[in-house]
Amino acid sequence: MNWQNPEFVTRLFFCYRFNMLCTIIIEGKELRVKSHANLLWAALDNGFFIPNLCSIKDKLRPYASCRLCFVEIAGRPEPVTACTEKAQDGMVIQVHTPRIERLRHTAFDLLLSNHRLDCAHCVKNHNCELQRIARLEHLKLRGRRFNKIALNLRVDSSHPLITFDRNKCVLCGKCVWVCQKEGTAVLDFAYRGIKTTVSTFAEMPLTETACNSCMACVEVCPVGAIYTSSVLPGIPAN
Ligand code: SF4
Ligand code: SF4
Ligand code: FES
Repeated sequence: MNWQNPEFVTRLFFCYRFNMLCTIIIEGKELRVKSHANLLWAALDNGFFIPNLCSIKDKLRPYASCRLCFVEIAGRPEPVTACTEKAQDGMVIQVHTPRIERLRHTAFDLLLSNHRLDCAHCVKNHNCELQRIARLEHLKLRGRRFNKIALNLRVDSSHPLITFDRNKCVLCGKCVWVCQKEGTAVLDFAYRGIKTTVSTFAEMPLTETACNSCMACVEVCPVGAIYTSSVLPGIPAN
């Protein structure tokens, strides 16, 4: 991006002002995307995988908490999170560089350091976003760089349809967002720092809250933290 070039600056202005398409280059491939589109979703929608856990397409202000979506943009001194960037004409983006891979690896290991890893007995086994990212990015689910933090939080199975196991939560915030969007706002972040968790008010069991069983949280949870309880034999949990 050449900010000294008047032609470039004029083009950028018109792209932004009139919501035009712009050209970006990801991993050497040119893409035409909406100017100022979210960079992560512009890449994903065009078949480029950038690992992500906390981004929601419709959410205007990203949480940017998982730190998996780092990319390098030519001309920027430091890697940036793709979910917080907007596509701009002439952007040249790298998704796999040694620096990015180190950052991504660290973020992934940190996420797993307080995740109760028990794939063989997990409802999300083979349909889990952590497993998918590990597979596509050649990362280990059983990394040993950080000590495991055993949370031992109570599993809420009070609700007839929903089980909530916070020991598997990766704090992506998707359930909080949909719950608030649905208008019930039963789920929210609680506590701070290493103790941060998703919780109902005062950790009340789901059945004692205003939960209306819309199941939106179950649909968005990328891991085995909120899932459909197997209520009937033969019907698999989500
Ligand atoms: S949430 Fe995914 S990574 Fe975690 S135990 Fe379940 S299947 Fe394994
Ligand atoms: S319960 Fe699931 S959707 Fe909610 S924050 Fe945790 S991992 Fe994300
Ligand atoms: S998707 Fe960008 S930080 Fe999580």
